[in-house]
Amino acid sequence: MAKHTITLIPGDGIGPEVCDSARAVLAAAGVDIAWEVVEAGADVAEKHGGNPLPASVLDSVRRNKVALKGPIGTPIGKGFKSANVQLRQALQMFANLRPVKSLPGVSTPFTAAPVGKGGAPGGGAVDLVIVRENTEGMYTGIEHTIIPGVTQAIKVVTAEASTRICEFAFEYAEKMGYPRVTVVHKANIMKITDGLFLECGRAAARRHPRLEMVEMIVDACAMNMVRNPNRLGVIVTLNLYGDILSDLAAGLVGGLGIVPGANIGKDAAVFEAVHGSAPDIAGRGVANPTALIQSAVMMLDHLEEHEAARRIERALRDVYEKGTARTGDLGGKSTNKEFTDAIVAALA
Ligand code: NAI
Repeated sequence: MAKHTITLIPGDGIGPEVCDSARAVLAAAGVDIAWEVVEAGADVAEKHGGNPLPASVLDSVRRNKVALKGPIGTPIGKGFKSANVQLRQALQMFANLRPVKSLPGVSTPFTAAPVGKGGAPGGGAVDLVIVRENTEGMYTGIEHTIIPGVTQAIKVVTAEASTRICEFAFEYAEKMGYPRVTVVHKANIMKITDGLFLECGRAAARRHPRLEMVEMIVDACAMNMVRNPNRLGVIVTLNLYGDILSDLAAGLVGGLGIVPGANIGKDAAVFEAVHGSAPDIAGRGVANPTALIQSAVMMLDHLEEHEAARRIERALRDVYEKGTARTGDLGGKSTNKEFTDAIVAALA
């Protein structure tokens, strides 16, 4: 019997190809995994009366407690409710953890100098973490038309969810050796909802006196992230701000092809890239699988497979450092398959 049984949700667009790549790398690293492949997404919605997330998917993740997931597309302005949001809410995966770190030899959009050689913002390699509240805020999906031409969305912020996520961020900063947690909010305008979130952040800071706590309004955070990202340390923030800041942060380290993520709850964890289904490049075999491979590394650490995680990390860095292979989003010409083969070769 395999050591780990893990749910695999290939998803839409480039999802299946980046999942194949991550699977190949995990196999080459010798991790003993039995994959339980389940389908979710736009095609599934057609067969399930408009539901992109059949109960069988939730059952599988509940049973195995760990999943690796490709992106799932969500129609804009109409159609089904996001399968991603449903999954996070149904499994109460309250923390969306997104470490944003430079890879060797990958330049930022605004400096040609390689990161780590003095050219990056903040004078070195970028290293920050975004902890995004994953279950409420602006993403409750409670929206309605009051009268034609007048619409309303309801943002929900609770002390329970805010305390839970702030505590998670402070504990993570302590465990990983970050000196500071930046609590990002807009409590100057949303005094009640974001005000409550900020209060919960302050309370968490009092429980962790060894860490510095910085309060920052989200617009100022966007500016600081570009000018001096490493000052931010671990950012903890509400759902919508975390979503937007994650893509901004991805831009600092070479784009969406790189940044991994994890959705973590008490009973289940789903590992997925920050990027979406990239319909513009789907099916061409050119997607960068780095983000999902790095998500798989986070998954291995979650499974206490630290040795294999470090080996994959080293192989990935080796390929970037030597430039053995590089996908189009980072200025290279390698296909997804060639890039994957290079990592597999580096592992050997
Ligand atoms: P996107 O992240 O799919 O693409 C944005 C841009 O980044 C595109 O130009 C794309 O080609 C590029 N890109 C993304 N990942 C890449 C990779 N691995 N390699 C190379 N280039 C890459 O964002 P977009 O277009 O806004 O969303 C497309 C769909 O994905 C939407 O339906 C959205 O709802 C969904 N989505 C799903 C997510 C998830 O499942 N967790 C997260 C974000 C979006």
